[in-house]
Amino acid sequence: MRAMDLIDRLNREGTLPDDALSELIGERNRLSGAEREYLYLLAREKSTAVFGHDIYLRGLIEYTNHCRNNCRYCGIRRDNGALHRYRLTDEEILSCADDGYDLGIRTFVLQGGEDGYDSDDRICRIVSKIRERHPDCAVTLSIGEKTHESYQRYYDAGAERYLLRHETADEDHYRHLHPDEMSMRHRMDCLYDLKEIGYQIGAGFMVGSPGQTDACYVKDFRFLKELDPHMIGIGPFVPHHATPFADCAAGTLDDTLFFLALLRLYFPKALIPATTALGTIHPRGRELGVLAGANVIMPNLSPGAVRKDYLLYAGKICVDDEAGQCRDCIGARMHSIGYRTVAARGDYPGFQKKHNPPDESGGSEPDRRNQDDL
Ligand code: 5AD
Ligand code: FES
Repeated sequence: MRAMDLIDRLNREGTLPDDALSELIGERNRLSGAEREYLYLLAREKSTAVFGHDIYLRGLIEYTNHCRNNCRYCGIRRDNGALHRYRLTDEEILSCADDGYDLGIRTFVLQGGEDGYDSDDRICRIVSKIRERHPDCAVTLSIGEKTHESYQRYYDAGAERYLLRHETADEDHYRHLHPDEMSMRHRMDCLYDLKEIGYQIGAGFMVGSPGQTDACYVKDFRFLKELDPHMIGIGPFVPHHATPFADCAAGTLDDTLFFLALLRLYFPKALIPATTALGTIHPRGRELGVLAGANVIMPNLSPGAVRKDYLLYAGKICVDDEAGQCRDCIGARMHSIGYRTVAARGDYPGFQKKHNPPDESGGSEPDRRNQDDL
């Protein structure tokens, strides 16, 4: 069958011309169970050839749900007036990181809405405090669109990675997902700025979002190929009741696994998470994601009291759990499929830093976690 030839070719060559990719994407719902399994097998072989059976952990700290944006898909959008808004203090954020460290987490992801309260000084202060307390850990920011100058300041303060999903590389689709004041070009420019500064960058998109066509996916792959990010996050779109897309259908498990596997064949060295959204639409979604080529999981380190307020979409898992439960749960889930979670930073293979700030991690610094130096 033609789709199988295309899969083999992608596996061999690591890329497909747009028309062939478009054809493969168009055929995805006609693949048999065995054909899908074959695709996932090829993708996980690519992943294990680079990463073995190690799964990197990224501890997610959802430190604010205030957001000035109004993305039509997102539960913490500005117009959601029913949402209880919160903002963690510096001390609360540092305590999440400390707890995560004790659980073997060596990357902390500070994620939040685009909160007007966040000054660059505050972000830099938090980043440098985490780096100071945990010099063997990486700090990733996921705080949206900022100026080149701000990105540079965070980098100089010790942030080394930045997640900013491009969401879609199709202009019309971008317009459908976002209000007029947001721009696809600006978002892409942010990603290029981040890369130029020296961050390991993460882009990505939702699968099955309203208005998304097969042609949109082809453009996503073309854009990703050009950007060549270190991390790529994708997950199914899941509707949230307090958004204009409340009644839209969710993205499917099969589609998400299909695109995860394709991404792995295109980007063998990329850090690709099996996302929480994937775990939300299927009880074993994250395990299946790893078996389709993902190699990262992001346990939630946010304090129990605020988790239910950081709902980007409905039914999000783990809102009633604590950091230790998520850590253990993920460890057991990965073990059940023959993988192991590791206490490592998990940088992009072969990544060379542009500049070396004085607090470059060495792992040999003393553990100062218990010092009261806030
Ligand atoms: N369903 C799935 N993913 C969502 N995100 C935001 N809202 C939703 C939703 N309703 C994703 C976006 C964003 C990331 C942090 O979460 O892609 O970049
Ligand atoms: Fe949070 Fe399973 S990952 S409880």
